[in-house]
Amino acid sequence: MAGIYIHIPFCKSKCAYCDFFSVATLSRKEEFLQALANEIELQRNYLEEESLNTIYFGGGTPSVLSIQELEFILSQIKKYHTLDSDAEITLEANPDDLNYAYLKNLRSIGINRLSIGVQSFIDKHLVLMKRRHNANKAIVVIGEAQKAGFHNISTDLIYGLPEMTIKEWKYNLDQLLDLNIQHISAYHLSIEPNTLFNKWVRLGKINLPTDDESTKQFELLIEKTKSKKYIHYEISNFALDGFFSKHNSSYWKNEKYLGMGPSAHSYNLTSRQWNISSLPKYITIITQGEIPCEIENLTKNDMYNDYILTSLRTMWGVDINKVENDFGKLYFDFLMKSSAPFLESNHLKKLDTKICLTEKGIFISDHIFRALLQV
Ligand SMILES: C[S@@+](CC[C@H](N)C(=O)[O-])C[C@H]1O[C@@H](n2cnc3c(N)ncnc32)[C@H](O)[C@@H]1O
Ligand code: SF4
Repeated sequence: MAGIYIHIPFCKSKCAYCDFFSVATLSRKEEFLQALANEIELQRNYLEEESLNTIYFGGGTPSVLSIQELEFILSQIKKYHTLDSDAEITLEANPDDLNYAYLKNLRSIGINRLSIGVQSFIDKHLVLMKRRHNANKAIVVIGEAQKAGFHNISTDLIYGLPEMTIKEWKYNLDQLLDLNIQHISAYHLSIEPNTLFNKWVRLGKINLPTDDESTKQFELLIEKTKSKKYIHYEISNFALDGFFSKHNSSYWKNEKYLGMGPSAHSYNLTSRQWNISSLPKYITIITQGEIPCEIENLTKNDMYNDYILTSLRTMWGVDINKVENDFGKLYFDFLMKSSAPFLESNHLKKLDTKICLTEKGIFISDHIFRALLQV
């Protein structure tokens, strides 16, 4: 089983916190679509004929594309790949791009999962983040998506926002949990280089919550989602039973994926590669028949570190048998030794052959990851 990720590198405007690769103009959309179609053909052998169980349109903002444009990309993918009958096909969408007719058409071309960027249900946050929608629009489009036949909807929320109070975060969670959606991605704000938030933090124009406030917001997230039967299956991801994202899970379960479009990453079990983060260069190089990417062949050490980093983020944890079988005794011994103090302090727990983060451990996960990596 394998997955395809398509990066749509356009946004109508840039949000104040976001450093994902995108340009805030649609002027080269046609050329990009042609280059992407060429890349799909050029990379047709990367997955070695494994069938696809996920296709993920991410960005940037995939919902700036018309139905015909999305259909064009899907048909190009289907020319070179076999799609499993229950494949998950996700589109990341911004609320301001959505309406009932568009949503109905998305369903009719086979998109069966939406990831809607809500971020907050409080208008002052949305204004600060420079989002293009308001809270009411997000609520309306989630209802329209359900009416249009989407039964697998995820929404993104951000906590740890400047000046965000615990009361405001509780309000956001209550609003979301009333909407009967299947999946929630809740990210703590990270201050990224080249963003307005970064500039404002440096100028002292915005104040970030303290670690203690952030921890309380995370605790509330865990408590509220649990009370509504969401399963906390990855540090930032929560889903009702049966609705774990297949796309995300393929990263964590060490399956092959092919990412196309500028800045997209790919992985084929032995190497990683990533496309150039420049739209003009991407278009020019693809048009010359080449793939504008850098490739890194993975050493055993890299593979061990990747396995620890990705699996420990999930509720399935690190399988010590797998470490012994795939990496050998040296790595097994290192894992046992480096995890021992955290097992002792109850930041990690051992369930059968798996080592997992405890709720207490999640709060210091970065520290644990560093200790468990083989350098
Ligand atoms: C790359 S964005 C694309 C989604 C879509 N364009 C949108 O705006 O809804 C995916 C998600 O990453 C999250 N994100 C982006 N930058 C972030 C940051 N600096 N801190 C926390 N979350 C961030 C947001 O929740 C966003 O919805
Ligand atoms: S959050 Fe989404 S819309 Fe905003 S800049 Fe990032 S990718 Fe674009």
